[in-house]
Amino acid sequence: MKGKTMSLTIGTLEKAKGIGVCILPAKEATARTKKSSSKKRILNALEQRGGLSIEDELRRRGVSSEKGSVHILSITGESPLLGIIVGFWSDSSQPGASEDRLHPESSDEQSRWGFVRRLAIAASKQAKEWKAGDIAVHASVFQNDAVKESQVFYETLLLSQYAFDRYQDLPKKRRKGVSAPRVLFEKIKGLTLKHLSQVEGKVSGVNFARDLVNTPAGDLGPYDLARQAQSLRSGGSLQVKTLKVSELEKKKMNGILSVGRASKKPPAFITLRYQPTSQKRKKFPVIGLVGKGVTFDSGGLSIKTGTGMETMKCDMAGAAAVLGVFHALRSLRLPIEVRGYVPTAENMIHGNALRPGDVIQMMSGKTVEVLNTDAEGRLLLADALHYASKDGCDIIIDLATLTGACVVALGEECAGLYANNSELKGRLLCASGAAGERLWHMPLLQNYKKLLQSPIADIKNIGSRGGGSITAALFLEHFIGDVLWAHLDIAGPAFTTSGDEAGIKGGTGFGVRTILAYIEQLVSE
Ligand code: BES
Ligand code: ZN
Ligand code: ZN
Repeated sequence: MKGKTMSLTIGTLEKAKGIGVCILPAKEATARTKKSSSKKRILNALEQRGGLSIEDELRRRGVSSEKGSVHILSITGESPLLGIIVGFWSDSSQPGASEDRLHPESSDEQSRWGFVRRLAIAASKQAKEWKAGDIAVHASVFQNDAVKESQVFYETLLLSQYAFDRYQDLPKKRRKGVSAPRVLFEKIKGLTLKHLSQVEGKVSGVNFARDLVNTPAGDLGPYDLARQAQSLRSGGSLQVKTLKVSELEKKKMNGILSVGRASKKPPAFITLRYQPTSQKRKKFPVIGLVGKGVTFDSGGLSIKTGTGMETMKCDMAGAAAVLGVFHALRSLRLPIEVRGYVPTAENMIHGNALRPGDVIQMMSGKTVEVLNTDAEGRLLLADALHYASKDGCDIIIDLATLTGACVVALGEECAGLYANNSELKGRLLCASGAAGERLWHMPLLQNYKKLLQSPIADIKNIGSRGGGSITAALFLEHFIGDVLWAHLDIAGPAFTTSGDEAGIKGGTGFGVRTILAYIEQLVSE
């Protein structure tokens, strides 16, 4: 379970044993830089350590030196390095970070940051396979904004060391002899260990979210989630409260109560508040984060199929992302107030279950005709969004594994983004580009609101066949009032059964990095 702790050094690569990572000029730049002293320096340094001529080796293998390509050269014989990861990138026409942010759809495939991430993944994968002791990173790997790039590299390296093996015996045994590789960074101007420890704080937040999502629903019900949230309490700066059933009843939070009422594990509403002591916080808006916390979604009486249920422990990934952000906020110490709202319940079946056709009155007073009990996320989010909008938040962002329709539209690697404000939408797209998480904008088409009209209540909880992700977002919009609001439908990227780029299966912690990047951008202005 959790990412292995890596030891980290900044300095020379002299003692490196294991894997060397470097970048050489891409094909189009090779001619121009052929005699470049920096290129010679890289080659000499690594060739001496690896006991081979990299150029000969590349030629012999006939590998392409296309810009952005990454190659793994393994070295045999008695050499201190086991292999070298070579990436190709030309010094000219580097798309800058700001350009990446404008094009989130291409950020990982074409950008410099995406390239740095791919290098880190290659290094991490090989380190695992070869049981390498060190990953030695040559200064050539970092170019434009070397500090930011080294953070991106280190973040990806740490993320790709994650494993969830709490329930397995084998990995413990396997792990005994193998420790996580040591990371050696060559000296890079401006880069300090503090920059890299910030990265560790973020990665711990992502891994906290991943652990929560990966934990089977049998071991993680609403109260367990609340206990995990309570564990984040830290001094006066992070407060956590849990409202139990009797308090939910007093507050008429019937959305949360109805979804949770057929489960043996009672529902709850968790609130978090990160309030830094710094007076600077008054310069920034209060951010509210809302996360869908359905610890298991059977569909209720509108029951899912067997296969449809297989991954439904992940239906609290929005909540996990919110808790992951708070986990990271404790160590990042940003001067901005952030509040969290996590409605949590288990959507199960019992004699007292919510029925299709029932009408419930939400906390806001609106009545909802529940035609499908599998469209439960919007019911509990409605109460949480209403609560957050009355609680003094200037901006509210919710994260929810809300609809299969969003997965149909954008696939499993991309989340859908809805917002009632274009600046907020733009900022979140920028943040996702910077974070390396894929997010794409979707329309809150107001004329589809008619699809939610009910003959007997104010609205119904499902639309018609098409546009299921849009009608779900429009349903939520009914409960937000006039607060600035964005909704991330993360049903696709929250969980992967086939594995992410680093081959890691299960919960991805999606959203934590985007939200942190968004908050960081706000405070850096
Ligand atoms: N939790 C699901 C959405 C989901 C699907 C999450 C796939 C992760 C992966 C949600 O509660 C749900 O079941 N939504 C229904 C809504 C429908 C009944 C209007 C859906 O998408 O089918
Ligand atoms: Zn459902
Ligand atoms: Zn659900």
